[in-house]
Amino acid sequence: MTTPVVLETITELRAALSGPVAFVPTMGALHDGHLELVDRAAELAPTVVVSIFVNPLQFGPNEDLDRYPRTPEADLEKLGARGVQYVFMPSADELYPQWPIATKVTAGAVGGMYEGRSRPGHFDGVLTVVAKLLNIVQPDAVVFGRKDAQQVFLVTRMVRDLNLPIRVDVVDTVREPDGLALSSRNRYLDDKERRAARVLSQALEAAVSSGDRGVDPALAAAQSVLMGEQLIELDYLVIVSPTTFLPVDEGYRGKAIVLIAATVGSTRLIDNEPILLTA
Ligand code: PAF
Repeated sequence: MTTPVVLETITELRAALSGPVAFVPTMGALHDGHLELVDRAAELAPTVVVSIFVNPLQFGPNEDLDRYPRTPEADLEKLGARGVQYVFMPSADELYPQWPIATKVTAGAVGGMYEGRSRPGHFDGVLTVVAKLLNIVQPDAVVFGRKDAQQVFLVTRMVRDLNLPIRVDVVDTVREPDGLALSSRNRYLDDKERRAARVLSQALEAAVSSGDRGVDPALAAAQSVLMGEQLIELDYLVIVSPTTFLPVDEGYRGKAIVLIAATVGSTRLIDNEPILLTA
């Protein structure tokens, strides 16, 4: 058990760090999925920095910024148990001394699709804060979870587009025993919603196991699983290319990703799985 050093200012953080660093940006409310990212970071560099910052720039006006779970004490305890040395917990004023911010990173066309269509400006907010955090921490490697597949795609693209000398490492989704992907938002679900939420991963599994029949049959297999659950309101279900993140055409063969987003009660959940299309 380590007691992580909590750094609240950029000056403190810069003074504390030396040598190779692996970085895990988070918004806190940490679960086992985050802790897998931390474990991976520890394999990549001797010093691990985790940031906890609920970034206002990536929330829309009617989203859950105010009610987003904040559990700093529990987070520090979990990070200490994983041996994390440094936790960067800036205030909004520290990260955004002049608000509203005038300069942003824009996420381009893919940033306006899927999550970005339902949450306008979300990915500009994500990329802007990630770019700022990468500039502040200056890590050798940064670790993200595959559950946010579109975020991973866009951050990887940003790192390439802006020539940031940072390795982007991606860790597989951690799931509950019934398949539900771990998410800080799962705690919003009541018992009925929690039971309903497992159809997201079941729908993905149905698509994956129909990959040998082609794109449309795979999507139809997922749809038929979703139809059995009244509490789920589907936002999108799509199969995208891992290289362009654009929807694949019927007839596409090769590796792809099935993406799903749905609202369960008032909670928006996302998930994805790799799929191999062979028909
Ligand atoms: O995935 C998240 O928790 C956030 O989008 C991130 C990367 C920490 C940026 O605020």
